[in-house]
Amino acid sequence: MDINKLLHKMTIEEKVGQLMQLAPFFFIKDLEIEVAGNVSDIGINQKKIFQSGSVLGIRNAKEMIEVQKRYLSKSRLQIPLIFMADIIHGYETIFPVPLAISSSWNPRLAYQMARVSAQEASSAGIHVTFSPMADLSRDPRWGRVVEGFGEDSYLSSIFVKQMVQGYQNNDISKPGNVASCVKHFAAYGAVEAGRDYNTVDVSRLFLHQYHLTGYKAAIDAGAKMIMTAFNLVDGVPSTVNSYLLRDVLRDQWKFKGVTISDYDSLHQIIEHGCAEDNKEAALLGIEAGLDIEMASSCYVNYLKELIDEGQVGIKLIDEAVMRILELKKEVGLFENPFKGANPKLEKKLIHSKEHLSIVKDVADECSVLLKNKNVLPIKKGSKIALIGPYAQSRSTNGSWSWHGKRDLNSTLEEALNKQGTKPIITLNVESRAEISAQDKEIIKTVDIVVIAIGEDAYESGEARSKTDLSIPRKQATLVQLTKELGLKSIVVLYSGRPLILDHILEADALLYAWFLGSQANESISEVLIGKVNPSGKLTMSFPRNVGQIPVYYNYFNTGRPKREGIQNEFVSYYLDVSNTPLFPFGYGLSYASFKYGDLNISSTELYSNEELTVTVEVTNQSDIPGFEIIQLYLRDYVSKVAKPIKELKRFQKVWFERRTSKIIEFKISLKDLMIIDATGNKYYEYGKFAVMVGSNSEEIQSKDFRLIKESEL
Ligand code: NOJ
Repeated sequence: MDINKLLHKMTIEEKVGQLMQLAPFFFIKDLEIEVAGNVSDIGINQKKIFQSGSVLGIRNAKEMIEVQKRYLSKSRLQIPLIFMADIIHGYETIFPVPLAISSSWNPRLAYQMARVSAQEASSAGIHVTFSPMADLSRDPRWGRVVEGFGEDSYLSSIFVKQMVQGYQNNDISKPGNVASCVKHFAAYGAVEAGRDYNTVDVSRLFLHQYHLTGYKAAIDAGAKMIMTAFNLVDGVPSTVNSYLLRDVLRDQWKFKGVTISDYDSLHQIIEHGCAEDNKEAALLGIEAGLDIEMASSCYVNYLKELIDEGQVGIKLIDEAVMRILELKKEVGLFENPFKGANPKLEKKLIHSKEHLSIVKDVADECSVLLKNKNVLPIKKGSKIALIGPYAQSRSTNGSWSWHGKRDLNSTLEEALNKQGTKPIITLNVESRAEISAQDKEIIKTVDIVVIAIGEDAYESGEARSKTDLSIPRKQATLVQLTKELGLKSIVVLYSGRPLILDHILEADALLYAWFLGSQANESISEVLIGKVNPSGKLTMSFPRNVGQIPVYYNYFNTGRPKREGIQNEFVSYYLDVSNTPLFPFGYGLSYASFKYGDLNISSTELYSNEELTVTVEVTNQSDIPGFEIIQLYLRDYVSKVAKPIKELKRFQKVWFERRTSKIIEFKISLKDLMIIDATGNKYYEYGKFAVMVGSNSEEIQSKDFRLIKESEL
């Protein structure tokens, strides 16, 4: 297909139509009804509907085929629709939520998740997924931390890259692969006070150093699309922010793909107070470089008028349309408008044994063991009580799992039964007040109480911000009860964000189980009985209380740092709580126990053209084989622009057989010591650095070295 020729044949209305994205019901319901309802709400008629360029959120292959057929039956130039949807952590076979995947510190798992998601989604006729979410957030009040990869831009970028590569698999024209649309450009995770859609105000320096790195990683990995954010950046809504969409994205990053607004976000710039009406919103959007408008109608209703009035040049429209046609061509839609959609294959793939087994393997590396006072793994033959709202719940998919059928998931009780560890009593209760005296007598007879508690799956996710992050609905009283009864307890906690854990720290063990998807409880039950050795580590610091937020590992020293053990009033600290988090970034236990030998560096001087070799011997001192995640951090002691006290630069997740040692080696070079300035440029400064290696961001050994010029030799 020669898309240049095609463009020449298109009328202005047809061109503008390509820039609009609509939901499927516009095409398949009785249009007479729709015209009176939703359609009239956004002020578009049937003609405009059947000129639109793309569809958001299709449910299955059958529906896609029907929509495409109807559309093409009315399309003058036979330009097929392209189908996009939110496939965030699996299509119908649901994987752990992204925050949980990042806790595995195994980026390959993100790749596998994206591959399986792409295969299932493609068979349903989806061509583009609105994933990954590369927004960096340090604020667990923000419900969407569940969709991201934690608080660190380096770690998160690595996961983002794997997701993009997994979805696209180097060739979006092949069935089984989908194009990736990274989101939400930019800095959406920095919303004030963690309230979704709220104001964002970050410096250009922090924007480039921390917030933009994830989107950039996606673009570098070849992501075909990028979605704008709901929030302001520098006082301008991201959706019409030409600094972001033109200067950074096109000029600096050389992005050639398609930009899309978030849902209704072009129209919403009126609410932001940045446009008077839809017409002005359309003008600002097209000038800023926004290609597709999702779910509102500023473009389709006003761009032609703006062109006729000479306010918008046709060149701007043509550029946007060409990018969309190019994407359709790359997907292969001109050869096959039903590309991918295959009801038979869809049925075969979804929830297939093979896909479920991949989910299980992924889930096995995601839960994080935060505490274990010798109660886990549960000893064979132990008498167990299982209590809590998650004892018999199938709600383990987490947010953004709209295709996932949670009825197919096992409960923890069922999964434990399957392992031959049948609880002698199971109580689906939220608090101790719901437990009868009779049941208490039974509970008293057990060896251990498993307490399955947490947030509801829909307490995290979009528009799910909270100010109180303590254990919900009096569930903590279940832990108090077991303590009072003198019983040992294990808390299994289901959540999509870090919660405040102080009320349940009395439990003897604490397993953070996130929302692990279709095989969640299969995995958790195997962790509980020791068939699986937990290996996840935190990718967000866990605050001690809400007042501490944001608390993150790569903080700045300040001019008045708090030094442990030294009394001084006029330093940066709180009167009522320590500066440190309850559980630090990178923290997580294993059933194995690892010992770190001395940290060695190949030299205390690093010439700018050479590499520094960093080694440490790690030993599994136990009889249990398992993974350890060895983390390397760097500190730049002196630079004109201050740097954090440490920054993650490398990590390795390594398998250790029982009682074995390995020498772990890292190489550091100039590129790891680079500083990003407020315009996004990279540079370096010679001088003193520290390299730190350890099992989490706090338990580390440190050695200093100097970066020196080669010419100083
Ligand atoms: C709004 C969300 O912010 C975005 O992440 C999602 O992709 C769109 N809705 C489309 O569903």
